[in-house]
Amino acid sequence: MKILAIESSCDETSMSVIEDGHIDLGTVILSQIDIHKSYGGVVPEIASRSHAESITIVLEEVLTKANVTMDEIDAVAVTYGPGLIGSLLVGLIAAKTIAYIYDKPLIPVHHIAGHIYANNLVKKMEFPLIALVISGGHTDLIYMEENYSFKKIGGTLDDAVGECYDKVARVLGLPYPGGPSIDKLAREGNDTYKLPLPLNDDSYDFSFSGIKSAVINLVHNEEQKKNAIRNADLACSFQNKVVEILTKKTIKALKEYHVKNLVVAGGVAANSAIRKSLEEECLKNNFNMTVPPILYCTDNAAMIGAAGFFAYQKGIKADLNLNAKANCALGENI
Ligand code: KG4
Ligand code: ZN
Repeated sequence: MKILAIESSCDETSMSVIEDGHIDLGTVILSQIDIHKSYGGVVPEIASRSHAESITIVLEEVLTKANVTMDEIDAVAVTYGPGLIGSLLVGLIAAKTIAYIYDKPLIPVHHIAGHIYANNLVKKMEFPLIALVISGGHTDLIYMEENYSFKKIGGTLDDAVGECYDKVARVLGLPYPGGPSIDKLAREGNDTYKLPLPLNDDSYDFSFSGIKSAVINLVHNEEQKKNAIRNADLACSFQNKVVEILTKKTIKALKEYHVKNLVVAGGVAANSAIRKSLEEECLKNNFNMTVPPILYCTDNAAMIGAAGFFAYQKGIKADLNLNAKANCALGENI
């Protein structure tokens, strides 16, 4: 089954052709990062306008890249939420138009289901599993008993981990998006600044606003005292605390749910220190861990095509009344 997948929930216009939920026949990702960089973050209105300008070009390009015609496509999968409403609507209208014109089934895909299924492009996902979803908008621990069954066991109470990386990077004067810059800088520094371990309790929930404020206060205090900030050391100290709490709670979930398989997903899964720490702990405990290559960690349509295949097998389909949702829970009926 060949699925044409569309993702436009934030600042990437992306389309893919995915076969049977795991073979990437062709993916195009048009990133708007350079456009938003000068604003220090994504500007929603600019994002949706850019999606509208590029969406038909991306469609032509992906069909050429995958070497398929619309006749060979069996269904259209699209991210319906969560995300920026204007951005989502561009992808959704494209998907509905294509599905209507070519008479193909329309499959609605939750953005986070997509991130999780990026792992199926690497290796067939085995169940039960725990998914750690760490992105710019989410920090979730999800238990999956079988394909396309999602039970959230914990999540962030405030900022998502990627959001926290981006805000800390901004305070340190690093470019947007902050995650990759902090990741790189942290490797050059030492853990010398004292920062709190975020929400170090027995729950599976996370809270990153405390550590974010601690970094901001520390920078302001040092500035007032005219002390220079050692950016690399601060990046390293911040990242170590984030890595420690993510690793601790994820490994605890695997043990308590008696699960052997871990999949890591979302833009922050590109982080080298988080990958390394989880890999080491999984090795120690005999758990199997999968993490997508960096291209499939950040937003892309390949992951939506992979998830769409399993959604379709579960009978999840939509008609032309499908609407975009800025906020929607994973697993919620649409
Ligand atoms: O999944 P994603 O592309 O978009 C959302 O669905 O949110 O994630 C984007 C987030 C940004 O906050 C970015 O700073 C972060 O992923 N990110 C990283 C790294 N690469 C991207 N965070 C930490 N380390 C990285 N190497
Ligand atoms: Zn995402």
